[in-house]
Amino acid sequence: MPSEPANAAPARIPRHLAVIMDGNGRWAERRRRPRIIGHRAGARAVNVCIDFCIERGVQALTLFAFSSENWGRPEDEVGGLMKLFLNALEREVEELDRRGVRVRFIGERERFSDKIRERMAAAERQTERNGALHLTIAASYGGRWDIAQAARSLAQDVAAGRLAPQDIDERLLGARVCLADLPPPDLFIRTGGDTRISNFLLWQLAYTELWFTEALWPELDAAMLQRALDEYAGRERRFGLTGAQIAAQTNETVE
Ligand code: FPP
Repeated sequence: MPSEPANAAPARIPRHLAVIMDGNGRWAERRRRPRIIGHRAGARAVNVCIDFCIERGVQALTLFAFSSENWGRPEDEVGGLMKLFLNALEREVEELDRRGVRVRFIGERERFSDKIRERMAAAERQTERNGALHLTIAASYGGRWDIAQAARSLAQDVAAGRLAPQDIDERLLGARVCLADLPPPDLFIRTGGDTRISNFLLWQLAYTELWFTEALWPELDAAMLQRALDEYAGRERRFGLTGAQIAAQTNETVE
């Protein structure tokens, strides 16, 4: 997949969808159940989202499963989430592979247990040649961490004499942040009612269309995702240009 759009014409279907899956805890609390039950229901909604993307031809899906800050949650919740991730890695990868999904993980992997890290690497190896959907799970991920690791990698090249500081520009830094081999997200969805980005893909979301819903993540269904796609399809993406310039580009593409 090209890393940048060939032109700024609006695409009907987002090539890359990025999602903050919020509201699992509240979903459980409303049912007077432990929060981990909400996360389990959230794992089912992940499958709804993956199925929808494959059916609609969305090529890449990036899910925020666990933020750098989530390590600070109560110990039993973090432990429950780790068990859930391990279970998902043990049970779901075969089916994802069968469906042609390529699975990758972004984030500070060193913070996970050896067992989870091994499973992550095995899932990536097993599915690396698949192309029906590029699924990225952001786990122990933070947008600031991502930009910092990209800057560190450039600094290492400078220190080794491979790169001159004056050559560092947006293109070079952009090539070192996570997901650099994918087009930037076209559409961002956040469930759970909050209207913020919460340290998700800070660099990558620069021109992404944002869509928020009050619905809690475990309530996700195809109709809700379709509403987001319909709204996205009706938006004009200008990437800093004027509406007239975009219209001219669109006509050139059509001719
Ligand atoms: C946010 O809801 C959700 C999380 C921190 C965890 C996301 C995990 C899953 C959807 C389950 C498994 C995922 C995979 C990829 C197998 P919250 O707990 O912050 O909800 P709240 O705002 O209602 O408290």
